[in-house]
Amino acid sequence: MPQATYHFPKGFLWGTATASHQVEGNNTNNNWHQWEQDGHTLDKSGLAADWWGGRWREDFDRAAETGQNAHRLSVEWSRIQPTPDTWDEDALEKYRNMLRGLKDRGMTAMVTLHHFTDPLWLTERGGWENEEVAPLFEKYTRKVVDALKEYATLWCTINEPNIYALIGYVAGSFPPGRNDLKLSMRVIGNMLRGHAAAYRAIHQLQPEARVGYALHYRPMVPRTKWSPLDRLMRNIRYSGFNMGFPSAISSGVMRSPVGNQNIPEAKGTQDYFGLNYYSVDTVWFDLKRPGELFSNSGCPENADMSENNFLANIPEGIFNSIKWIDRTYPHIPIIITENGVEDSQDRMRPRYLAQHLHQVWRAVNFNWPVKGYFHWSLVDNFEWERGWTQRFGLWGLDVDTQKRIRRPSVNFYEEICRENGISSEMVQKYCPEVFEKLFPV
Ligand code: FCB
Repeated sequence: MPQATYHFPKGFLWGTATASHQVEGNNTNNNWHQWEQDGHTLDKSGLAADWWGGRWREDFDRAAETGQNAHRLSVEWSRIQPTPDTWDEDALEKYRNMLRGLKDRGMTAMVTLHHFTDPLWLTERGGWENEEVAPLFEKYTRKVVDALKEYATLWCTINEPNIYALIGYVAGSFPPGRNDLKLSMRVIGNMLRGHAAAYRAIHQLQPEARVGYALHYRPMVPRTKWSPLDRLMRNIRYSGFNMGFPSAISSGVMRSPVGNQNIPEAKGTQDYFGLNYYSVDTVWFDLKRPGELFSNSGCPENADMSENNFLANIPEGIFNSIKWIDRTYPHIPIIITENGVEDSQDRMRPRYLAQHLHQVWRAVNFNWPVKGYFHWSLVDNFEWERGWTQRFGLWGLDVDTQKRIRRPSVNFYEEICRENGISSEMVQKYCPEVFEKLFPV
């Protein structure tokens, strides 16, 4: 049996990612709380993982004690700016404590400024549909960066603007629950304006900052390779889903299947590329979907499916995503800002982790500058409209008692972080079913 270790570069960031609304609990002043109250989610977020009540301390201990050297978290706009004219200094102090907590544990912080949730007052003004949002987001960003810059230099302006806009404004399962493709593209345009304004503001306040955003990038393939219609739909959907932000950041023009927008201020506004990778889609022509320009999508056939059939385990997809990033933006530092799988029984997670990291390692060996990996997530958290039905944590969570349950993947990830690599021995121990795929002789 071969014995080998796939090593990662020195200084590689190994961590997990979380988001305020998903872990803090008692977040009642934002659009997602309202969405939950209106009955659009399978469960309510409630106390979540109770980080606002202080349990971030024990979870950061867990992360640090198991070898992680970084953590990506988000701050909640509606807590920091509860009304248009007020700032909550206590909330900012709490976030300062959390970031100090990471520093004390020897962990690098990455701070996301917007992760899906909006203050209710902003929603009442039309949210990201309204152009007025960009200066408002900039003002909030300045306040946050001023307060937290002592503890963070790595900033993520907006998490998955494409998911926010498409699930909220086309699919309709995120707030505000619309089905309007044109409007969703306006929202992405305003998110670009907000991102660009925040990018410049952060650099003004902290010259050494590294600023980017996190894109949910989905590789896509036509369901039937030889079908011209499926191929056309694949291209339309691919550009509508993936290319809004990247096109504008490359050229100052946001391209979309329903028209282009000039956003010159967006050009060049990223210091690293934040990649959220989960899975690959197949795309086909579907007459019943005029609202999505006659395209539909699903998981590749016969794929290794996750517990809730939420995603297909396609590790080559992360390699191809990194390759696409390096072709689009040669030499830009790349950070995997999210990757993970819902799996309450921890049956798939170990192999999902091993196979994806193996592909990241391959990418690193093409000299594509991958600097870090944040697994989604540290502990089970509130998964949006899917509530508590999906369990993405390395640690499980008993929502009623707040008890954490240590899944085998905790130990596996610990060994990876400590070794700064992934070895044949580890794979043999935690996911022998993929040993031959990862270590062929
Ligand atoms: C991503 C989100 C994150 C989490 C994972 C599973 O799209 O950014 O908040 O819900 O999916």
